[in-house]
Amino acid sequence: RAVLALGTLAAYLIGSLSFAVIVSRLFGLADPRSYGSGNPGATNVLRSGNKGAAVLTLLFDALKGYVPVAIAQSWGLDALTVTAIGLGAFIGHLWPVFFKFEGGKGVATAAGVLFGFAPALGGLVLLVWLGMAVVFRYSSLAALSAALSAPLIQCLGWGWGPATVGCGVMSALLIWRHAANIRKLLAGQESKLGQKA
Ligand code: G3P
Repeated sequence: RAVLALGTLAAYLIGSLSFAVIVSRLFGLADPRSYGSGNPGATNVLRSGNKGAAVLTLLFDALKGYVPVAIAQSWGLDALTVTAIGLGAFIGHLWPVFFKFEGGKGVATAAGVLFGFAPALGGLVLLVWLGMAVVFRYSSLAALSAALSAPLIQCLGWGWGPATVGCGVMSALLIWRHAANIRKLLAGQESKLGQKA
């Protein structure tokens, strides 16, 4: 239990590194919380027009979910501990202790956690995201579709267990965080990928 608590805390601290803000600062860009959707995430950093900064945000926000889970797996920790560590990183992204608890929507970090649970799981859910993004060009709609599919794919492919609950919790929080996006999608006012909001 000490490993679970310490591991989850460490993952939470890593998850609290809001790379949209950090990368933007390093690139001399405006704070992503000050424009577009106001969300500290790769989609919004892309609205700055700087693709490199957006890609780095995506990569590092995903890695902070992937690395703690992958380390936990490589140490042979039990499924409950691995799941708690993944959730720790995800929660850190949503409520970062280093950024006044004002975090992002969790898409990239959840993807990283899923890749950590099982690369094939991450890959399949990524395919859902990509398919929806290519067809409809809305980052949020792609994320919502991927979130709905994740617990289902996990359960069908790997069987019911702590990771299923972990996927379900991440998806529920992710969808809740997209409330404003859902409203905009329904009103036909959501901005398309790369389009300035
Ligand atoms: O990654 C978050 C994405 O799904 C929506 O971002 O900035 O359009 O609210 P945003």
